[in-house]
Amino acid sequence: MDKVQILVIEDEEVYRNVLCIALREHNMEVQAVASGEEAWELIKQHRFPLIISDIRLAGKVSGMDILKDVKELYDPSVLMITAFGEIEMAVEAMRLGAFNYITKPFQVEDILKNIDRMILQQKIISDQLQPSNLEELSRNTGIVGNSGKMCNLMNIALKAARSDATVLITGESGTGKELIAKAIYQNSYRKDKEFVAINCATLSDEFLESALFGHVKGSYTGAIKDRVGLFEKADGGTLFMDEVGDISKSVQAKILRVLQEGEYIPLGSTETKKANVRIIAATNKNLLESVDNGEFREDLYYRLNVINIMMPPLRDRKSDIPLLISHFIKKFNAKLQKKVTRISPEIEDILMEYGWPGNIRELENVIERAMVLCSGNKISKKHLPENIVSRKGNAHSITVVPGSSLYEAEKELILRTLQLTKGNKQEASKMLGISIRKIEYRIKEWG
Ligand SMILES: Nc1ncnc2c1ncn2[C@@H]1O[C@H](COP(=O)(O)OP(=O)(O)OP(=O)(O)O)[C@@H](O)[C@H]1O
Ligand SMILES: [Mg+2]
Repeated sequence: MDKVQILVIEDEEVYRNVLCIALREHNMEVQAVASGEEAWELIKQHRFPLIISDIRLAGKVSGMDILKDVKELYDPSVLMITAFGEIEMAVEAMRLGAFNYITKPFQVEDILKNIDRMILQQKIISDQLQPSNLEELSRNTGIVGNSGKMCNLMNIALKAARSDATVLITGESGTGKELIAKAIYQNSYRKDKEFVAINCATLSDEFLESALFGHVKGSYTGAIKDRVGLFEKADGGTLFMDEVGDISKSVQAKILRVLQEGEYIPLGSTETKKANVRIIAATNKNLLESVDNGEFREDLYYRLNVINIMMPPLRDRKSDIPLLISHFIKKFNAKLQKKVTRISPEIEDILMEYGWPGNIRELENVIERAMVLCSGNKISKKHLPENIVSRKGNAHSITVVPGSSLYEAEKELILRTLQLTKGNKQEASKMLGISIRKIEYRIKEWG
């Protein structure tokens, strides 16, 4: 087999030598340079599949410049080396398409582990198993949408699939967070290993910890036998942690440890285990706010948020609605053995107008319901839920009839705003310009 070729760009001689020795010992063909300028000369002559570069380099051309330019030229896997405290730059590098980053002083073992993964990644690229464009990505993942927002998002997802970094997906309920998580997994070099999902909101601390890390028999009441944790089950694969904003501080600390050191200890055990799992986290909370009010660890936030994907609510990308409607009609024609063809322009208008507080999941449910109800091949008004037809459920407009009481109007406005914020009183209070206490007081009053 040919030796793997790797380019090392590091201006500190000690580190450069350590890397060269370690990589050559592992049977790689290494070229090492001390500056971005020299690196660029070599890259022009030869396309190294693997590159390790310090972010900061003495000289005019930085590691970030090299990363940017080289990613435009071809598709190498690039591992960045950062100094302690440069997490923001590291995050930027991930955005630019770096495979991962490692903080100085590093362990050679960590570098080698990353290189193994980069080699796998390069294999996928050279076998052309990764989608090269958005259309292909959309086809092989079932993600529908061609609005500008959706295209941006798919581009980030494509980049995320090419790196091994942790991804944080934020967005309202029903916007497709899990779907995009799976898309990233399916297009990553980890696709032949497990995709394991866990909802962190529904479990107590003990259960969550034991589910993630496993436990030994007798470690707590109810632990009647040993349990293998998801980090072990998902070894080599991807772990999707849903509702990550609801994790308690004590479990947050343990997750941070896995992310930082790649190690964990099962509940009640004394044995440290190694983790090789890519984490994709999701939340519908504003995690930065949780960091501000002390509910979420800042260090963990940064570790999770290496690549951030924000799912836009459906009301902000309404141009996707017609495509989504056809997509769901096709899906349910197959599932329900129906032959529904198009929907009338009138119905389409109604669906375009509506605010979709439950996002794509709500749209999907509405179409399914309509198709169950309709006997012919045409969906009509009577198959749609009343609140959508009368536009009462439209979170973006309310009707105030002159002559009605201010009290009633206030009630309508508060309830509708809460609907819009999915019951988030803090957000609603900001929008309405009243205190949370007043909202709570009113809700109590209305029973
Ligand atoms: N762009 C899309 N194209 C096609 N289907 C989609 C799209 N986005 C979401 N869906 C569908 O909508 C439903 C909800 O998506 P998903 O479960 O991924 O949302 P979510 O953001 O994880 O929601 P929650 O926060 O409630 O868990 C799923 O059935 C999914 O297949
Ligand atoms: Mg979900």
